[in-house]
Amino acid sequence: MKDKVIIKNASEVVTCTGFKEKKGEAMKDIGVIYNASIIIENEIIKAVGATEEILKDIDESQYEVISAEGKTILPGFVDPHTHFIFGGYRAEEFSWRLKGDSYMSIMERGGGIVNTVKSTREATEEELYALGKERLNSMLEFGVTTVEGKSGYGLDLETELKQLKVMERLNKDHEIDVVSTFLGAHATPAEYKGRTEEYVEFIINEVLPKVKDNAEFCDVFCEKNVFSIEQSRRILKAAKSLGMKLKLHADEIVQLGGAELSAELSAISADHLLQASDEGIGAMAKAGVVATLLPCTAFSLRESFARGREMIDKGCAVALATDFNPGSCFTNSIPLLFALSCLQMNLTIEESITALTINAAAAIHRAESIGSIDVGKKADMVMLKYPSYKFIPYNIGVNTVEKVIKKGRIVYSKA
Ligand code: NIG
Ligand code: FE
Repeated sequence: MKDKVIIKNASEVVTCTGFKEKKGEAMKDIGVIYNASIIIENEIIKAVGATEEILKDIDESQYEVISAEGKTILPGFVDPHTHFIFGGYRAEEFSWRLKGDSYMSIMERGGGIVNTVKSTREATEEELYALGKERLNSMLEFGVTTVEGKSGYGLDLETELKQLKVMERLNKDHEIDVVSTFLGAHATPAEYKGRTEEYVEFIINEVLPKVKDNAEFCDVFCEKNVFSIEQSRRILKAAKSLGMKLKLHADEIVQLGGAELSAELSAISADHLLQASDEGIGAMAKAGVVATLLPCTAFSLRESFARGREMIDKGCAVALATDFNPGSCFTNSIPLLFALSCLQMNLTIEESITALTINAAAAIHRAESIGSIDVGKKADMVMLKYPSYKFIPYNIGVNTVEKVIKKGRIVYSKA
């Protein structure tokens, strides 16, 4: 295999050009180049532009040439919010929700997250690794080349570390890059029932110092009857003082002020935001916190969607993620995510693409190295079956990805 690659003659290359998050208006600029080619050397993008210009002085025999005739090339998709390492499933809870139970009432009865905690504690590291690998394979078929994964189904030091260790191993072994987040404050575990304050102290004093080198981010499920604003602030401040970057499950079910808190703490992203207040949205736009929206979860829980359109109009940088997890949202479907973004949150196709590429990269602090087809970035890309990016949401719910290129190599090809 040659370490020099040309992707030749794409009908469209959607560059999503940029090295930081795109806010508001800027989200519509996706930098399409028609009849375009890309040169890759040593896993890095060397040139991108109109084919005649780019290949003018190039000796193609020195390159491996991948034909993209009649196809669209986009940056590899980034899924910046998932919980993909878990044991067991919760199909039963899904069926209860269809009959009228709510997500929070199931959680309050001792189901929900702590149900998955039990099966994740019971699973061996090897079992979790095998499951994780299978799930990453499925993500890759949808064009995902980088994923964020959270712990939070251990809620004790040992199991949280087991989850983080599995993600670290998968990051090394699998084509998809995995970015790890510590989510010890995902729920109060059974052994601390009724003693959430003590659990918060345990996280801050016993767990954070021991996981800080195993996860880049710290996240908290800030929600009524889960972790309060004040508890979330304490945990996140402690994480920040240990050098971790911050994320927040914010204002999902009840408007608590999580969006405002994310701005106050200069979090990299705040996620969910179905109930975010106008002030919170304004504060996030001002502070440059990426608003990571998870419409598959709202759909699955039959909640109203986040105000994505308004967030963009108010100057926010919006990202999209699947939130793949065994409870609130058991899907890693990128086509469903796109459909909901365009048809239910009223983002344009261009804004949705920005939200799943450069802004999703920004949501995991990677906008300088991935998320766009720019010279100097990692050569992570998807090739669509069709000649235009517009086919992604138009082909509702269907996977239009034909090939996935990771660091310049084809790592998935549709049979
Ligand atoms: O992002 N909302 C909290 N956490 C996850 C759900 C986790 C679960 O139900 O297992 C979420 O939706
Ligand atoms: Fe989540």
